[in-house]
Amino acid sequence: MSRLSADRRHTVRFMLNGRAVEAEAEPRMLLTDFLRHELGATGTHVGCEHGVCGACTVEIDGVPARSCLTLAVQADGATIRTVEGLEPEPGRLSVLQDAFRRHHALQCGFCTAGILMSLDNYLKRQPAPSEEALREFLGGHICRCTGYVPIVAAAMDAAKRLRENSSDV
Ligand code: FES
Ligand code: FES
Repeated sequence: MSRLSADRRHTVRFMLNGRAVEAEAEPRMLLTDFLRHELGATGTHVGCEHGVCGACTVEIDGVPARSCLTLAVQADGATIRTVEGLEPEPGRLSVLQDAFRRHHALQCGFCTAGILMSLDNYLKRQPAPSEEALREFLGGHICRCTGYVPIVAAAMDAAKRLRENSSDV
């Protein structure tokens, strides 16, 4: 990356949920703040702001990443997916989102966007996870409300439905 001036704002362009976006960012601006405040994509939440809770997880070039540990300028040219990009079509929940709804896998919802982003990616790589593996995987996310039981149930259910009907998303 070329050297950036600390006291100037720089144009950052990337694909966000299939749409080209651009806005200005200071070099120190976090991707979380850029998404929420510059682009209005407030579905991504900010919890600890130092990489621990997982609330801010988005997909950058197909890989889950903590957007609170990513500078907006680092995302220039990337392809980014956030929770707003999960619905397969306007007004229809994805299989995973629908499983969360049916299993009551959220209460305050603060952790939910990040968990959905991580699980969506994980289930594509691990379509038949064991409950133990899911619990291990979810260790990267902090939920203060649910006790994780309904989250694990929703993820197992979504994995099963996705296996049974591979055209579903
Ligand atoms: S806000 Fe990014 S990991 Fe907690
Ligand atoms: S639902 Fe409240 S933190 Fe997870």
